[in-house]
Amino acid sequence: MTPVEWTPDFEVGSRAMDLQHQHLVGIVNRYHVAMQHHAPRAELVRTFEEAADYARQHFHDEEALMAEHAYPRFAAHRLLHRQLMDRITELLLKLRAGEAGARREVQVFLNQWLAGHIRDCDVDYKPFVENAA
Ligand SMILES: [Fe+2]
Ligand SMILES: [Fe+2]
Repeated sequence: MTPVEWTPDFEVGSRAMDLQHQHLVGIVNRYHVAMQHHAPRAELVRTFEEAADYARQHFHDEEALMAEHAYPRFAAHRLLHRQLMDRITELLLKLRAGEAGARREVQVFLNQWLAGHIRDCDVDYKPFVENAA
């Protein structure tokens, strides 16, 4: 599994959101590096907790932006955020408990969630926010 590389197809039409997404990518890539160096579980837990906290704040800010611009698929998008937070909470419990395979499961989740959610779901609000004053 390779780190997430930032490319223009991650851009969502909002500088503030792009910066938050870049920050999230940075945390995810730190998790990758920790895995590569066989870091102790406590370090992986701390890094994933940081990603969870940042994601919660990011979803809050992103939902405020979507609401402000009357994004038509707001309710469905907010539901996706809630499902992601539920999944994060579940994985955090597994990782903290030292469950077999949890480190790797978190790594795959972080990678797919980022690539998947930002590029497939967040870009959908781009036309609604990018030309706004
Ligand atoms: Fe989103
Ligand atoms: Fe986002």
